[in-house]
Amino acid sequence: MKVLIDADRCQGHGRCFSLAPTLFEFDELGNGVVIGDGRLDSQTLELARLAQVNCPEHAIEIDEAP
Ligand code: F3S
Repeated sequence: MKVLIDADRCQGHGRCFSLAPTLFEFDELGNGVVIGDGRLDSQTLELARLAQVNCPEHAIEIDEAP
């Protein structure tokens, strides 16, 4: 399972790194980026889903394939 941010969609609303600062940070433009390789376990999957439903641009994608 992995999380990623679609950089073309992200408009820097910042909810991802506010809600899940262990998964996301912001770049020099203030846009969200995934920390590390974005791999998720069952706990971080819940955090990633929380960020996903709160992103107004629907920029956060979760690949739930094992
Ligand atoms: Fe971007 Fe959405 Fe986060 S717009 S900064 S991915 S909340």
